[in-house]
Amino acid sequence: MAGKIPQDFINELLTRIDIVEVIDAYVPLKKAGKNHKACCPFHDEKTPSFNVNQDKQFYYCFGCTASGTAITFLMEHLHMGFVEAIEDLASRGGMEIPCDTNTGANTTNQSNKLYALTESVTKFYLEQLKNNKNKTNVINYLKERNINREIVVEYELGFAPPGWDNLVSVLGKSNQSIKELFDIGVIIQNDRGGYYDRFRDRLIFPIRDQRGRVIGFGGRVLSDEKPKYLNSPETIIFQKGRELYGLFQARKALKDLHELYIVEGYMDVIALAQFGIKNVAASLGTAATVEHMEKIFRITNKIIFCFDGDIAGGKAAWRALENSLPLLKNGRQVYFIFLPDNEDPDTFVRKNGKDAFLNPGILTPLSEFLFNSIGNKINLEILEGRSEMINKALPFLAKLPPDPYKDIVIKELSKITRYEIEDIHNQLSISNKTNSKEIKENNTQNKGIEKIRWLIRCLLHQPSLALDIKSTESLSALQASGINFLCKLITLIKKNPNITLAGILENWRDTKFEKRLCELASDEDGFNEIGVTSEVFIDAIDSLIEAHQKEFEIFKTKNSPLELTDEEKLKYRKMQKSPQDS
Ligand code: UTP
Ligand code: MN
Repeated sequence: MAGKIPQDFINELLTRIDIVEVIDAYVPLKKAGKNHKACCPFHDEKTPSFNVNQDKQFYYCFGCTASGTAITFLMEHLHMGFVEAIEDLASRGGMEIPCDTNTGANTTNQSNKLYALTESVTKFYLEQLKNNKNKTNVINYLKERNINREIVVEYELGFAPPGWDNLVSVLGKSNQSIKELFDIGVIIQNDRGGYYDRFRDRLIFPIRDQRGRVIGFGGRVLSDEKPKYLNSPETIIFQKGRELYGLFQARKALKDLHELYIVEGYMDVIALAQFGIKNVAASLGTAATVEHMEKIFRITNKIIFCFDGDIAGGKAAWRALENSLPLLKNGRQVYFIFLPDNEDPDTFVRKNGKDAFLNPGILTPLSEFLFNSIGNKINLEILEGRSEMINKALPFLAKLPPDPYKDIVIKELSKITRYEIEDIHNQLSISNKTNSKEIKENNTQNKGIEKIRWLIRCLLHQPSLALDIKSTESLSALQASGINFLCKLITLIKKNPNITLAGILENWRDTKFEKRLCELASDEDGFNEIGVTSEVFIDAIDSLIEAHQKEFEIFKTKNSPLELTDEEKLKYRKMQKSPQDS
């Protein structure tokens, strides 16, 4: 769930603001029946299929299926971050984000303490690089790798000295501070309950987030030992899939990041920066995620991936390509640099210099990388080869959002394959349709789940239906997937009787349920009017309970377990068990 901002506050916020007003300021809306309409801001169209429903506080586009709440709209349309969107709405609603009540404030306070501590730990490691009696090794190592003093200062490189209790003896004077050192991941607990330093005899790279707070550390061995790098574990303040090493320094050094290089390693960032290429960040050993790219595209329109010249680097480049396709709109561009075998940006720039690295001739545009990779072994001189090429390309084209970029890529494919542009468009819309049909067919396979899903859908569109349910006790005893969720939903609505669809969705933002809920919420029939009476709804719940009880009885009347099929046995055992999370 949302994390720092209390969910109750978000629920309250959503009852105060009006999605129609919020969206209308950016996309003028026209009233049409129960909804407000406009041409969709998320895709190109001439007739309006973008609908905003005031009752549900929810928008939905029948053309491109973009959907969400006022918060989602600000995030998607104006590229705000989640917290930023909440702040924006709160100021419109004349509300202040609470800073002294329960959960929200506690986590914020707690995080602030942890940030202060990571700052102290950073200072400690810096200090050790200057004054520790064992510093000779690390100083020699920096020299060996030609890392100069300015860069050491700019990136605040430090030294974790040898030994096991350096941090605890200096920064862990109380039980509370020891616990905090543990919470930020710099000390590890042993079997006997004691603690020892995570980083020992290593060169330290403090990792700062975009706002400049130290959120974690990386540490490199000074020899050929393994593991080469240790990193802070994921903590309350450090999530690897989101952070980029060096982004803070890049933004600090350059006002305008016209383009940003994304590399694999700490040392690559350091080396490029030392050569004056400061617009560089590293993805911390994980592949570049969609979250990474969304973050970068908020800062710059041009990303250049430069991974190591080895098999892993090639794979990382392909993953980056796949992850960036859905984001390629509004003039955004992605390029790749493929380095010679066994080179990385660090060795390359040191060997060949800055100009060689910045030479535009070494850039491969994403489209070229895509067509070259899928067309690699295809003979385009023969008709069969050209048809293979089209079929291989379609799934990738389908991922591109509607944008002139997509049109140009399609045009290029048409040129390569001598297949009409219009036919490519036709193929794309056919595969779109079969995909959504397959999804629908899979969905209807399981009747029980279907019923529960129907109940959830009713509640999304008519939350007040939940108010007539006296208790969720007999429901929660049922063993079926989705029941647990249904009960939580009912409880939420009973606690917030005025909650809208938007309010409900925001309670499950960033959870595994978010996507499914949005799908249920933006289902076309439901969006217009579901019109279920309270009697019908309660009946449906009763019949669900009854059906389960009947099935249970039938299982019980079978004389021996041998009469049950394997599938039935499994189900029977599940029914006997006490309720648990589904
Ligand atoms: P590299 O092995 O390419 O590291 O791993 P590098 O930065 O070029 O370091 P040098 O030049 O060998 O000193 C790329 C990144 O993968 C992560 C680190 O973030 C590293 O910078 N990694 C690598 C680890 O987390 N652990 C490891 O053991 C190795
Ligand atoms: Mn390297």
